[in-house]
Amino acid sequence: MRSFLKYLLIFVVVLFIFCESGEKKLKIGLIAPLTGDVKTFGESVKNAFLLAIEEANQKGGILGKKIEYVICDDKNDPTEAANAAYKLINQDKVNAIIGSVASKASIPVSEICEQNKIVMITPTSTNPKVTIREDGTRKIYIFRACFIDPFQGKVAATFALNNLKAKTAAILYDVGNDYVKGLAEFFKTSFEEGGGKIVLFESYQKDDVDFSALLTKVKQVNPDILFLPDYYTKVGLIAKQARQLGITATLMGGDGWDSPELPKIAGEAIEGGYFTNHYSPEDPRKEVQEWVRKYQERYGKIPDALATLAYDATILLLTAIEKANSFEPEKIRKALSEIKEFNTVSGKIVFDENGNPIKDAVIMQYKNGKATYVTTIHP
Ligand code: PHE
Repeated sequence: MRSFLKYLLIFVVVLFIFCESGEKKLKIGLIAPLTGDVKTFGESVKNAFLLAIEEANQKGGILGKKIEYVICDDKNDPTEAANAAYKLINQDKVNAIIGSVASKASIPVSEICEQNKIVMITPTSTNPKVTIREDGTRKIYIFRACFIDPFQGKVAATFALNNLKAKTAAILYDVGNDYVKGLAEFFKTSFEEGGGKIVLFESYQKDDVDFSALLTKVKQVNPDILFLPDYYTKVGLIAKQARQLGITATLMGGDGWDSPELPKIAGEAIEGGYFTNHYSPEDPRKEVQEWVRKYQERYGKIPDALATLAYDATILLLTAIEKANSFEPEKIRKALSEIKEFNTVSGKIVFDENGNPIKDAVIMQYKNGKATYVTTIHP
């Protein structure tokens, strides 16, 4: 009996070792806001992620293995995003994570990935803090496929000053949202540096729905530009209330305006409003037109910037895995850090010393309820 138990024990140990070192898998996690106040962002990112994976799997997968994936909803909430990251790493044992979408969700995820030495590529989070710690050092496992907000804010401010000949601007921002607050500050700095005057800089809270007190102040200072660097749901609400109060300023914002829901929420109020973005489906480049056709064929709609960046981020990750010739997170990280230039649908990326992409931005304008291309701005 004793020796039977001994052999049983040896068998169990061998089985355990075998399973642990067994066939290496490639499992990629996706974190995105599939429900909540920015759910069109999550839907676009998920669609494009799945398209990139399906394409790769149809060609036989990566390094001879079919790509597996797990998708988590963070509801655009930092705590949910952190829980999703823990689950993907500890339970699902993913090799890498794509996500999240909003900077305020990507920041906690980036800290968890960095601690656990798991590569994360956010397709869309533009706040500098996603890849950089408070002390200025780089989180070496964290990458992104989009430009960052100091650039986005400068592009918007320069366009307002030079193209719209604006002299004054008012800014309203959500103080609890890293992206919104960051973009508000970057726009302010660049607008002032360019000789413009910020006549009002005021914050609100995430759950606010009545902006009449703030907007009354805006009306009093009568700015050329009202800069609203929030996501589409809030922007729609503020824009509507601004026009109801008789504010005539040109409305401007950032990539958070990119949703077919915005003109539905804001109606006429958003007409003529300008925003900075990562790509335009009207771009005649072959890569863009091929991508728009492909996405439209699969999902019956035109890909927005979020979809395009998610496709770019997924291809970037798969390319790094192939280069690494390994599914090991450390080798994937190294391969990613060695990519200096990369051609994506949204344009050529050159990574700066912090691993942040340097790439073109576009200016879009809402016309007849549709985001329409205005111009491209080079870094
Ligand atoms: N840049 C936004 C953020 O960091 C996310 C976003 C990207 C929203 C692109 C819309 C389009 O929070």
